[in-house]
Amino acid sequence: MDTSQLGDSGLPGGSTNDVLIGDGKQPKDAKRTPQDPETDGRVNWMISKRDFRARAHSNPLNDGLFEPPVKPSDLAINKLYVNPPSPKVDWCDIGCGYGGLLACLSTAFPDKTMLGLEIRDRVAEFCRRRVLEMRKEYPGSYGNVAFERTNAMKYLPNYFAKGSIEKLFFCYPDPHFKKKKNRQRIISTQLLAEYAFVLEEGTGIAYIVTDVPELFEWMATRFERHPLFERRSDEEHSSDPVTRYVRDKTDEAQRVDKSDRGKHDASFRRLPNP
Ligand SMILES: C[S@@+](CC[C@H](N)C(=O)[O-])C[C@H]1O[C@@H](n2cnc3c(N)ncnc32)[C@H](O)[C@@H]1O
Repeated sequence: MDTSQLGDSGLPGGSTNDVLIGDGKQPKDAKRTPQDPETDGRVNWMISKRDFRARAHSNPLNDGLFEPPVKPSDLAINKLYVNPPSPKVDWCDIGCGYGGLLACLSTAFPDKTMLGLEIRDRVAEFCRRRVLEMRKEYPGSYGNVAFERTNAMKYLPNYFAKGSIEKLFFCYPDPHFKKKKNRQRIISTQLLAEYAFVLEEGTGIAYIVTDVPELFEWMATRFERHPLFERRSDEEHSSDPVTRYVRDKTDEAQRVDKSDRGKHDASFRRLPNP
């Protein structure tokens, strides 16, 4: 399919929620797709978020049953992707939720290989199934995007080699408001060392966006104080073509749009090693 026909969301019609996340019912004029035994024989036109309800949170400090690759070269690139534009992951969405951001970026930047990491099993399963459906529906598209269930706070170096990632996205992360839960925040001084390890030295970029001002200050301050990151100027951040996707195209961003909460975003360059 010619991806120029796809809307701004990377999908026909332009709205992530309207099209990508269907209601499980088949539109009248839709081409029939195979029946899925897991949905009681209902025609599985587009999978629905409703079929993949999950608990709101999963404790990232718990040891879950994860099976990360032993080392980055064990990541099964050929199984995860279809004709990936590069033989390694270029962009990673950490805590990708239902995967809306990468679904949009995938068609807008088809020359990048993208991976979404999500800790909640049912949510990660939704993303995996969704991308398989989208590939079937739009042959030739979405081969560059994949999703894995993992605890990104623990296993990032299992997935990515040193200096291999061009962009890391931290979109609307869980705020963990209570002070004693700050350890569960996805941005911390300790974890920034890991993010710096996997990002390309001198050119890698980490993006943050949240609707919680206090969390934004917390994250931005940690990046600014870290010797391996520098905040990009507002001008550089705003003129980056990826910024508007990070700000507006995730599933959570669309919920924020329906509220009167504002969005706070910034990006940080991985500095060369001293
Ligand atoms: C508020 S949601 C935002 C989802 C998505 N980024 C968006 O903007 O729509 C935060 C997501 O991060 C996931 N998450 C939290 N801690 C994680 C971890 N340690 N590893 C991977 N995913 C995590 C949660 O399960 C949840 O889906």
